[in-house]
Amino acid sequence: MAKVVVVFHSGYGHTKKQAEAVAAGAAATKGAAAEVLAVNAEGELPEGGWYKLAAADAIIFGSPTYMGTVSWQFKKFADASSKPWFSQAWKDKIAAAFTNSASMNGDKLSTLHYLFTLAMQHSMIWIGTGVMPANGKAAQRNDINYLASFSGAMAQSPSDASPEEGPLPGDLETAKLFGQRVAAYAVKTRG
Ligand SMILES: Cc1cc2nc3c(=O)[nH]c(=O)nc-3n(C[C@H](O)[C@H](O)[C@H](O)COP(=O)(O)O)c2cc1C
Repeated sequence: MAKVVVVFHSGYGHTKKQAEAVAAGAAATKGAAAEVLAVNAEGELPEGGWYKLAAADAIIFGSPTYMGTVSWQFKKFADASSKPWFSQAWKDKIAAAFTNSASMNGDKLSTLHYLFTLAMQHSMIWIGTGVMPANGKAAQRNDINYLASFSGAMAQSPSDASPEEGPLPGDLETAKLFGQRVAAYAVKTRG
């Protein structure tokens, strides 16, 4: 089985929904096993988290976009990953990333760029969404990849939406397909 780990932070539960959708997509992929690892409010992984990351074939990073980048809790985790970085322990693992924020744009690409840089510092292999954007006249808000990101999965949760209301359904479906894509590649190359 190819192992996919989704490591994410969520301050208020919206990005958690996106993380769960990514993991559900990965878990639905034949030959792949997926699990989520939540970075907590102090920026710490749960017990055994670092071992799970060490054993993963693919690591999918996720954070809300706060002030145009990852949350401080995610950054604390990223800085703590300097320990495996020293020995390049994650070298050649598959990497991918997602983010959620309140605005349609909201500088989400800046967050994905940061996560790409993190993955490159670890010498990982980056996977994007591989999904065409819904950008024609007939496009609807809940179409797949309405937010039109190739670099990683994006989701939008309106600022007054509860986690049950946002991210919007199309963005959660986009997240699911993204998890499937990363897992399928992990199975193909490592399974
Ligand atoms: C400190 C802070 C900074 C934020 N910065 C941005 C931002 O730069 N762009 C944006 O679109 N939304 C921004 N938001 C809104 C969040 O991205 C949005 O509420 C998101 O759904 C929160 O996800 P979470 O529930 O997983 O924490 C910010 C929210 C907070 C609390």
